[in-house]
Amino acid sequence: AAGDEFVRDIPKVELHVHIEGTLTPELRWKLAQRNGLKVKFGKSPELHSMEELRYAMNSAEPKTEDEEREFFFESYYGAFDTLKTKQDYFDLAMNYFEHVATMNVRYCEIFFDPQGHTSRGIAWDVMMGGFKEAQIKAQSELNVCSSWIMCLLRDLSTEDAMDHYKAALPYRDMIAGIGLDSNEYNRPPLLFQEVFTLARRDGFRITMHCDVGQDNTHEHIRQVASDIGEYGADRIDHGLNAADKPELMDLILKRDIGMTICPWAYMRYQTYAELGPKMRLLFDAGIRITINSDDPAFMDDAWILHNLLLTKHFGFTDKEIAMLARNAVTVSWAAQSTKENIL
Ligand code: HPA
Ligand code: ZN
Repeated sequence: AAGDEFVRDIPKVELHVHIEGTLTPELRWKLAQRNGLKVKFGKSPELHSMEELRYAMNSAEPKTEDEEREFFFESYYGAFDTLKTKQDYFDLAMNYFEHVATMNVRYCEIFFDPQGHTSRGIAWDVMMGGFKEAQIKAQSELNVCSSWIMCLLRDLSTEDAMDHYKAALPYRDMIAGIGLDSNEYNRPPLLFQEVFTLARRDGFRITMHCDVGQDNTHEHIRQVASDIGEYGADRIDHGLNAADKPELMDLILKRDIGMTICPWAYMRYQTYAELGPKMRLLFDAGIRITINSDDPAFMDDAWILHNLLLTKHFGFTDKEIAMLARNAVTVSWAAQSTKENIL
């Protein structure tokens, strides 16, 4: 729309996007055809066209928060099956880079969920090899630089997390940090203290999801901000509910922990009237919040630009949106030279 050019043209950094969450119905359909796979969605019978797939992804009407979450995870993990070859992983990452290059994204730190791939028999070299080739091409042809954040799935065992951490070490040049995602129900951050402490000692940055609409959300944020990896993580993913508790805000401010906020994702659980004031409170306190897309292909095709534009509806001015974008540069784990190139 008119007036959006300012936000569109800001040089951007994205810090919270799951590469698997960028698998659009178009690309998923293409990969399924190429690999000779049937496409199903949830409990639906086989789908026969990309349009049917797109419709299935958007047509269910989950009502409660629990139903929303279940619907999301079912559709998200269900799509992993189409990823088989190095070319598939390359295409997935390249599709993301091409998309965000049009939004002037200059650097990104991208989550991937290796356990969702190795569990299907995909070799690490296939996955990481495809990602790496796309990363190199994006840097040279699109001027989009990137690094990866390996996420551990918190609904799986701590042993599986440790095994995957160790298996990832040969690829550590590609990996800036270790994250924690998937279903947060009954899975507090401290369960994973051992692997994250090891990761910190090995020189990785650490971050963890504390999603909105979770039980024990304040205790989860407290653990991430002060206990994980001995003195607390480097960033918090989501963590919006910290706005409810002055002591959590103090903690985050004192340690200058960056927060990756994904406003579009929260609209499933909360209204504008609830979300806006929380973002405002964190921002006005001087906490470095950043704006990101999370899983754009599963969230109404809302990429980073749409999420930044959404903050206008929460009352953020163009100048403040530029500040939000600058926060992402500051709290990113890019080399100083990369940061200076963007600012
Ligand atoms: N929440 C938790 N884990 C995830 C998500 C999410 O929205 N997307 C991908 N992994
Ligand atoms: Zn996420």
